[in-house]
Amino acid sequence: MGYAVMLLIVFLCHEVSSISILPHKHQTISLLKFKNTLTIDPSADTYYCPKPYPKTSSWNMSRDCCSWDGVVCDDITGHVIELDLSCSNLTGTIDSNSSLFQLSHLQKLDLSSNNFSNSHISPEFGKFSSLKHLHLSYSYFSGQIPSEISHLSKLHSLRLSTIYDGKKLRLTTHDFKWLLQNLTQLRELDLSGINISSTIPLNFSSHLTTLKLKFTGLYGIIPESIFHLPNLETLDLSSNYELGGYFPKTKWNSSASLIELDLSLVNFSCNLLESLGYHLTSLRSLDLAYCNLRGPIPESLSNLTRIEYLYLYR
Ligand SMILES: *[C@@H]1O[C@H](CO)[C@@H](O)[C@H](O)[C@H]1NC(C)=O
Ligand SMILES: *[C@@H]1O[C@H](CO)[C@@H](O)[C@H](O)[C@H]1NC(C)=O
Ligand SMILES: *[C@@H]1O[C@H](CO)[C@@H](O)[C@H](O)[C@H]1NC(C)=O
Ligand SMILES: *[C@@H]1O[C@H](CO)[C@@H](O)[C@H](O)[C@H]1NC(C)=O
Ligand SMILES: *[C@@H]1O[C@H](CO)[C@@H](O)[C@H](O)[C@H]1NC(C)=O
Ligand SMILES: *[C@@H]1O[C@H](CO)[C@@H](O)[C@H](O)[C@H]1NC(C)=O
Ligand SMILES: *[C@@H]1O[C@H](CO)[C@@H](O)[C@H](O)[C@H]1NC(C)=O
Ligand SMILES: *[C@@H]1O[C@H](CO)[C@@H](O)[C@H](O)[C@H]1NC(C)=O
Ligand SMILES: *[C@@H]1O[C@H](CO)[C@@H](O)[C@H](O)[C@H]1NC(C)=O
Ligand SMILES: *[C@@H]1O[C@H](CO)[C@@H](O)[C@H](O)[C@H]1NC(C)=O
Repeated sequence: MGYAVMLLIVFLCHEVSSISILPHKHQTISLLKFKNTLTIDPSADTYYCPKPYPKTSSWNMSRDCCSWDGVVCDDITGHVIELDLSCSNLTGTIDSNSSLFQLSHLQKLDLSSNNFSNSHISPEFGKFSSLKHLHLSYSYFSGQIPSEISHLSKLHSLRLSTIYDGKKLRLTTHDFKWLLQNLTQLRELDLSGINISSTIPLNFSSHLTTLKLKFTGLYGIIPESIFHLPNLETLDLSSNYELGGYFPKTKWNSSASLIELDLSLVNFSCNLLESLGYHLTSLRSLDLAYCNLRGPIPESLSNLTRIEYLYLYR
């Protein structure tokens, strides 16, 4: 009897300890496997990095993975919830079978400013169902952005911007539309440099504070609804040579929040409206160069008292 109880206690202790240790062990192994599929490039292109250094170099079994550089775990569950390997001199590819995709509890993943050797963005990225922040900018991905990205309906920020190197990353018109329609929590969207070659759809998250679609091959007319996004602080639609637009005639709804407006090289072919100066009172940067604007510069621009950068040439 006593023997049986003791066995039971031993069994229970064993179960409990293996339950609490297992997630850590799995995560540690997944992270080390991921590390080992990539190499450190001593001459990495780190133009966008203030202080590049290889975060994975110090990863080893002597410490719990939750204390590794770039890794953050949930205090209660112990799951890895953040992985920041931006500017880490990483080079190699992230295949669909990568152990990275076993970290299913990730809420933030930043792999920006590395060199993934022009490989594709795996559709597996769309399975991180808890993800709020996905940052893959300037990392030499190429090919079509998988439509599975629009499954990440909890995303607050999505940064996929790329170096303007011949538009190797593409997003289909269809996927662009779904992305905007499905990601209703987005605060920040940066797709600059990606070949979208589409008109701008009408559905935008009303939470958006930053929208950057510079040099994406967008065409057609800018929907006026963009100027009325109530929380918008930064809008960059510049360098889309086949895009045209009109300034809203009535009050802009985003006018009080807008801090940075870059519409350079967008074809407005109209007069610069007097209303601009009355409404956009928070503006610190206004770029309307090469906009094909006509007529006199309105006196109201003198009301933009916070302005630090004002480009109206051509
Ligand atoms: C990472 O890349 C930078 C820039 O090319 C370089 O200065 C640095 O030495 C590299 N670090 C390592 C550990 O290779
Ligand atoms: C393991 O990591 C620790 C802390 O990052 C470091 O001090 C130690 O040198 C590493 N050990 C090996 C064998 O790399
Ligand atoms: C993962 O896939 C790549 C290419 O598809 C292959 O070369 C590699 O051996 C695979 N790795 C594992 C661990 O299965
Ligand atoms: C990226 O890595 C590939 C090899 O994987 C190399 O050919 C290429 O020059 C690297 N690009 C940069 C910008 O370092
Ligand atoms: C939109 O998101 C949901 C999950 O939140 C997903 O089931 C659905 O397939 C997504 N739609 C598209 C077109 O990606
Ligand atoms: C963008 O992609 C389309 C095909 O999807 C292609 O026809 C076009 O040439 C690309 N634009 C640029 C600038 O590469
Ligand atoms: C915008 O999205 C809503 C659902 O979120 C949909 O009912 C509506 O038709 C969409 N509008 C456009 C123009 O796509
Ligand atoms: C501006 O905002 C007000 C109040 O939030 C709203 O009723 C109105 O429809 C908005 N105007 C436009 C053009 O979006
Ligand atoms: C700009 O738009 C005007 C009017 O829509 C058009 O006549 C003109 O050709 C456009 N310019 C360019 C460079 O596309
Ligand atoms: C804006 O500027 C105009 C002319 O420069 C001036 O008459 C007007 O009072 C100003 N409006 C505001 C709201 O500051």
